[in-house]
Amino acid sequence: MDVKIKGISLHMPLLFLLFSAIFPLSFSAANKPRNANKPATQSSHNHRLSSAVFKVQGNVYPLGHYTVSLNIGYPPKLYDLDVDSGSDLTWVQCDAPCKGCTKPRDQLYKPNHNLVRCADQLCSEVHLSTDHYCASPDDQCDYEVEYADHGSSLGVLVRDYIPFHFTNGSAVRPRIAFGCGYDQKYSGSTSPPSTAGVLGLGNGKASILSQLHSLGLIRNVVGHCLSSRGGGFLFFGYDLIPSSGIVWTPMLPSSSDKHYSSGPADLYFNGKATTVKGLELIFDSGSSYTYFNSQAYQVVVDLVTNDLKGKQLKRATEDPSLPICWKGAKSFNSLSDAKKYFNPLALHFTKPTNLQMYLPPEAYLIITNHGSVCMGILDGTEVGLENLNIIGDISLQDMLVIYDNEKRQIGWVSSNCGSVNSHLEGDFPHPYATNLGLFGERCPASYEVTDDQ
Ligand SMILES: *[C@@H]1O[C@H](CO)[C@@H](O)[C@H](O)[C@H]1NC(C)=O
Repeated sequence: MDVKIKGISLHMPLLFLLFSAIFPLSFSAANKPRNANKPATQSSHNHRLSSAVFKVQGNVYPLGHYTVSLNIGYPPKLYDLDVDSGSDLTWVQCDAPCKGCTKPRDQLYKPNHNLVRCADQLCSEVHLSTDHYCASPDDQCDYEVEYADHGSSLGVLVRDYIPFHFTNGSAVRPRIAFGCGYDQKYSGSTSPPSTAGVLGLGNGKASILSQLHSLGLIRNVVGHCLSSRGGGFLFFGYDLIPSSGIVWTPMLPSSSDKHYSSGPADLYFNGKATTVKGLELIFDSGSSYTYFNSQAYQVVVDLVTNDLKGKQLKRATEDPSLPICWKGAKSFNSLSDAKKYFNPLALHFTKPTNLQMYLPPEAYLIITNHGSVCMGILDGTEVGLENLNIIGDISLQDMLVIYDNEKRQIGWVSSNCGSVNSHLEGDFPHPYATNLGLFGERCPASYEVTDDQ
């Protein structure tokens, strides 16, 4: 089964096997990003900050991921990166002696005397959860991330130009730090991904979003809209957020920098309360499916199974796609054939007021290549997530989901994610949608250069 849980780093192992000398972390003005101390949030210029929008490709099934093509370097090259709201660090496969690099050489990233120094502030941000020592400030900055599915990436931080086009028409080319991964492991059941790396959208200081925010270029807000027909869009900034209709729930204070979590939420089935109450949920676009802890999972399986009694569906144990599948009298071609047998789930977030996230059958079922319909809510405890509950891509489809790190809240509204233009219309004059690569796929010749070095 092609199941991926990209977000949710389980831990960051100690990376620097260092001698004991504790090196005082001193930053010279030269290696410190010039804008790092400028508190972008209090800036009176915030109102003029606009947004960057990216086109998303991919689907829940059969691909199991949504990706953004990001231009990196100068001249820029495109890298397909897995959109992951569950982790911080963005990395690409590295053109260095490399294990687990699945891309052809010309699609690997080649460092060019641009390694981030160990004494760089960004390096300590990447090592927040571990002791960070530098034997010498000029050492390279190694990183390692391990994901919940036990996949991992190990490599070195580099800093390079990443061009961005904003919805107000301006283009910038800041230097952004990211990982160059030369040792990747993919979880056993998963075939190596077709992606070149991961786009970490978490709120840690090392994420691209945080770096753009520190440079005073963008509000600390990110949103995605993943379409059930495949594709969608991703954005940084406030501009694409509709002024009404969004349901906002506070991020949990315990929510670590790396995860976006909310709750508690009670589970409803077919409009009625269930025994599943008080779930804390992590919003993770890096996970293909939704995971509940064993107990909640079992309740959902029982509810759905009992609800199928007397209907013309049988268990399809021969379908290996996911743990629980059903087949009909004829094989299913699309969810519209199968969804009439199923009832909706809903999550009721109870604090501060009762808010609902509606989960229609489309938000928890897939139709497989074998023509059966399978349950896309899986047992998290069984795959080592313990009591974590994760709302993955399957349940995030056809919703605009917004992570507002300034107001510390998560919002959603159902949406046709097929077209970013429908969101831009009304709020902006037209040119953006069509001119110079709104999606950052092309590179206009001139940039406002905002080097930090
Ligand atoms: C356009 O948006 C960018 C990014 O938010 C900002 O840096 C720039 O100042 C804006 N330009 C104008 C003319 O407002």
